[in-house]
Amino acid sequence: MTDFADAAGGVANRPVHGGIKLAELRELGLRLEECLDFSASVSPLGPPAGVVGAIAAVDLAAYPDPHSLELTEAIAGHHRADGVGVGNVIVGNGSTEIIHLLARAWVGLPAARVNRAALLLTPTYSEYQGAVRVSGGSVESLDAERGEDGFSWDIARAARRIADGRPALVFVCNPNNPTGALVSGEELRILADAAGRAGSLLVIDEAYVNLSERYAEAGAVALAAETESVVALRSMTKDYALTALRLGYAVAGASVIQRLAALQPDWSVNGLAQAAGVVALADGDYLERARDAVRASRECIEARFGELGIRCYPTAANYVLAQVGDAGGLRDALARRGMFVRDCTSFGLPDCIRIGLRPVADCERLANAMSEIRR
Ligand SMILES: Cc1ncc(COP(=O)(O)O)c(C=O)c1O
Repeated sequence: MTDFADAAGGVANRPVHGGIKLAELRELGLRLEECLDFSASVSPLGPPAGVVGAIAAVDLAAYPDPHSLELTEAIAGHHRADGVGVGNVIVGNGSTEIIHLLARAWVGLPAARVNRAALLLTPTYSEYQGAVRVSGGSVESLDAERGEDGFSWDIARAARRIADGRPALVFVCNPNNPTGALVSGEELRILADAAGRAGSLLVIDEAYVNLSERYAEAGAVALAAETESVVALRSMTKDYALTALRLGYAVAGASVIQRLAALQPDWSVNGLAQAAGVVALADGDYLERARDAVRASRECIEARFGELGIRCYPTAANYVLAQVGDAGGLRDALARRGMFVRDCTSFGLPDCIRIGLRPVADCERLANAMSEIRR
């Protein structure tokens, strides 16, 4: 797992993320327009039609609504069937902002019954431990078992760890980044019950669930709306490819939302992102079309990598974890060709890369480059 400096230790050891960095492009002598980014996993469709018009109409000289009210109402409406009301939603500058608010509120200022610690189901998104550490907390982890069928956690063991350790927070990413593993609704309930009894808050990060072909099997929003010990996180950045705008939200009990809102800087969600979010949610069949596109791209990668003898782990997400041997070397070789994949060494998986599923034509280009390199 990635190591982090403590809060006073400086900024050198930041969490590691995908995405293309300009400094590397300059070093490689590449222009952004000629590159393909498979290292961030967002909707392959690009932003919904209507988003560009909506953001063009925003008054750039006006402060955004500090409560993101219109968007909050739209999100509550979107989840009405799960019992979500306006008081159960907080919008953030990406779900990353909410992860940090959670760490500050629950780890930085823990309740008496719990420990200043977070339990992470790993390997997983590194921002959880980054946020917990800068809030002065410690990080415990429960590693997944890696088997023929992919990665899975022992959920009964996780529940025991919650009971014994009483961590302030428990993070589970569903489907998980980078493994693509999906925890079932039944298993989530076991974790939620354990968290409730221990006085912990269970954070279920569903950044990728809307793009999952198996989205109907999980779904933490209803659980979060009915119990004060669960928070569900969603990323509109990922769902609607609003990557440059940054947008995410949490659904939770009203008291949890109020505690997060008390710590959120005013205007952190800019006006362009708020306008884009409202229009995106109104695009009724967008997510279904995005899931269809993900399925086609996944099938393409699995088939082409299979021909190259590369193992792809089963995935419930819009990315594929592939076992390639030297992940760092392959990542760099692809980068020199203008294709960026995520080297999973920082997740503790130095033999794997993660491929965010772009449209099929791009996936074909990636597979062609891989076959060239392997030759
Ligand atoms: C699991 C997970 N959660 C949250 C995020 C952050 O998303 P956002 O853009 O909404 O901050 C990411 C981004 O990579 C992620 O992988």
